[in-house]
Amino acid sequence: MKVFDRMESNVQSYARSFPTTFEYARGAELFDVDGKRYIDFLAGAGSLNYGHNNPVCKEALIDYIQKDGVAHGLDMHTDAKADFLRTYEDLILKPRDMDYVIQFTGPTGANAVEAAIKLARKVTDRTNIVAFTNGFHGVTMGALAATGNQHHRGGAGVPLGNVTRLPYDGYLGADFDTLDLFEKMLDDNSSGLDMPAAVIFEAVQGEGGLNVASDEWLQRLEKICHKHDIKIILDCIQAGNGRTGTFFSHERSGIKPDIITTSKSLSAFGLPFAVVLIGRPLDEWAPGEHNGTFRGNNHAFVTATAAIKEYWKDDQFANSVNEKAEVVTKHLQAMADKHGMSIKGRGLMQGLNVGSEAISDLVVEESFERGLIIETCGPDDEIVKVFPPLTIEEDKLVEGLELMAAAVDAAVARA
Ligand SMILES: Cc1ncc(COP(=O)(O)O)c(C=O)c1O
Repeated sequence: MKVFDRMESNVQSYARSFPTTFEYARGAELFDVDGKRYIDFLAGAGSLNYGHNNPVCKEALIDYIQKDGVAHGLDMHTDAKADFLRTYEDLILKPRDMDYVIQFTGPTGANAVEAAIKLARKVTDRTNIVAFTNGFHGVTMGALAATGNQHHRGGAGVPLGNVTRLPYDGYLGADFDTLDLFEKMLDDNSSGLDMPAAVIFEAVQGEGGLNVASDEWLQRLEKICHKHDIKIILDCIQAGNGRTGTFFSHERSGIKPDIITTSKSLSAFGLPFAVVLIGRPLDEWAPGEHNGTFRGNNHAFVTATAAIKEYWKDDQFANSVNEKAEVVTKHLQAMADKHGMSIKGRGLMQGLNVGSEAISDLVVEESFERGLIIETCGPDDEIVKVFPPLTIEEDKLVEGLELMAAAVDAAVARA
């Protein structure tokens, strides 16, 4: 019996889709212990936007470890933290005219979401949070209450409360502006909607099925929230760090969220790291009120700083993401046209709606056999999600898309 079967909990999931033992990884490629090469269209579920073992980050981290740089310092000041804060301020926040303070939370996305929700409740003195259909915000209790997926919610073991679910953009079809409902309910004294502390949403929904909120919808949501002093929490954990073609996922809409959660690719190296960006006037935390032993990972400060300096000093990297996104769209559209399917998403966060989990499971299996790591998303896992590192070379991107097309053909033939 393999050690994984003997020792590891049933809760493992990705390992079931990719039944091999991986040994090393570089850029957009993974290699298993038998030397088989795989193109990675999963990218650590969005944690490896800059690829596996990105050489710029790796060199910076090795140098830092060699000089015995502080690895763990709770939230004490270190030169690595100072360098990260200055770099983030100069290259990310200032050019986007964003004035936020940074809260280092525990290193997972869910912990950032917990902090964001708690803070919104604290500053407004309200308990209710509005979250949207198909939203995914993590699986700790507060974040899980805001998450739509029944499979995950079912694991809670207690009722999940203090969240009102409303329809996301497009949920009721293209002709229906779902914000009509939110606005009406807020203006109606007997709608049953307790005045929310905040709305929490993804600008492009990752796990929920690559649904994209239009700029107009986001702008209207912002207006409604301002009218009722409802705080706006953008969950940028999966769609951030360049994934949709801009550093943050909301940039093209021009809205100004009160709070932004970010994690996953923030460290740029797959190291655990999460922050909450807090609009300066909302920073009402008392010292240590939301804490955590691993808030502020110094190794992640080093790799994040190196990546931001390398990739976000100008528009070149973002432009390359948008060019690669067009390549993805073209290939996915061809697959969709061939099989009567549809495509979804934005930037390097696109996918093919194959119509059912039965087919998407076969696509994942056929892809794996051909040397492509790819996963699914959506309410019924019916979408095959193309999620490569943003740094993937164009020839490898095309190679992966061609493997996927062959896998789709084979899956449809088998179904
Ligand atoms: C949008 C979004 N928010 C929050 C999370 C939770 O992050 P973590 O798994 O690091 O807790 C995820 C994870 O996939 C996510 O996609």
